[in-house]
Amino acid sequence: MATILRGKDILRADHLTLDEIETIMVTAVRFENAMRAGDRLSNMAGKILATLFYEPSTRTRLSFESAMLRLGGQVISVADAKGASSAAKGETLYDTGKMIEGYADVAVVRHPIAGSAAELAEGAAIPVINGGDGAGQHPTQALLDLYTIRKEKGRAEDLTVALVGDLKNGRTVHSLSMLLANFGTHFYFVAPTALAMPPEITADLRRRGIEIVETADLREAAARSDVLYMTRIQKERFTDPAEYERLRGSYVLDKALLSLAKPGITAMHPLPRVDEIAREVDSVEGAAYFRQANNGVVVRMALLTLVTE
Ligand code: NCD
Repeated sequence: MATILRGKDILRADHLTLDEIETIMVTAVRFENAMRAGDRLSNMAGKILATLFYEPSTRTRLSFESAMLRLGGQVISVADAKGASSAAKGETLYDTGKMIEGYADVAVVRHPIAGSAAELAEGAAIPVINGGDGAGQHPTQALLDLYTIRKEKGRAEDLTVALVGDLKNGRTVHSLSMLLANFGTHFYFVAPTALAMPPEITADLRRRGIEIVETADLREAAARSDVLYMTRIQKERFTDPAEYERLRGSYVLDKALLSLAKPGITAMHPLPRVDEIAREVDSVEGAAYFRQANNGVVVRMALLTLVTE
C-alpha cells in the first residue's frame, strides 16, 4: 500500500493534497470491497487507537472504533473525556498528547475549542486525527462526504453542491467546502445572514477560482444543485438561546421542496438531524444520509491504516 500519509496528523481538510485525498478514496474502496467479500482484515493487528472525546459524538466515535476493530486493532478510550479525564484537573492538551503517545499508535480527538486537535498533535509523536474541533474543522467527515458524493454521483468533478444551514458554526461544511474545492465544485451557500459561511473561507475559495453563490433562498439552490447538503443549527455554539430559537427551523427539506429540486438530486446530512429533513424524505431514492453515515467506517479504516502503516 502507498505510504504517502504515514505519520501524518489529519487536522484540517485544506492540509490534504489531491494525491493524499485520492489515496484515501482508493484505499476506502478497497476496504469496502474486501468487507463485501467477507475478508477478515488484520491491517491494524497489534495496534491501539485512543479515542478522546471532550464533546458528544455518536457516529464519529463509533465508526472510528468499529473501523479499528474491523482491522483487527484495539481501542482505548476515555468515556467522557471532559468530565472523567485529567482535563478536569487542568491538564493541557499538549501534555495529554505527550502522555498518549506511550499508550497508543494513533489518536482521535474531538473537542469544543477550535484548534485543540492541533494542540494535542503538537504534544504527541503519534498521528492525531481531528474528530471535530469546535466550530473549526471536521476533516474525516469531509472525506466520508466526498466518498459518498463519488458513490452516489459517480464523480466528484463538475458538480453543483448546496451547503445549507449553520455555515458559520458548522465544522463539517468548513472542511467539506475546502475539500471539494480540489474538484472545482460550484457552490450555493444557503444560510440566514447571521449564520453565513465565515468570510475568510469564502475569500480563500474564491481566490482558488471557486464559484460561490451566497443566498438565503433554498428553493433556488435546490433547483440548480446536484447535491443538497443539509446541516443542523449548532445550538451548542450559541451564547443567546433566544437567537437559537429565532434561527432554528430556518431551512427544512421536505417532499414539497424536493418536488421543486433538480431531478436526481442527492440529499446529504452529516447527522444528527434535528428538524432539517422531514422523515418523509428518508424513503426517497436520493436520500443518501444514512448511506453516508455507513461510509464513515470504510473511510476511517483507510485513514487509520494509511497514517500508521
Ligand atoms: C457533526 C459534528 O459533530 O460536527 N456530526 C458528525 O460528526 N456527524 C455534525 C453536527 O453535530 O451537526
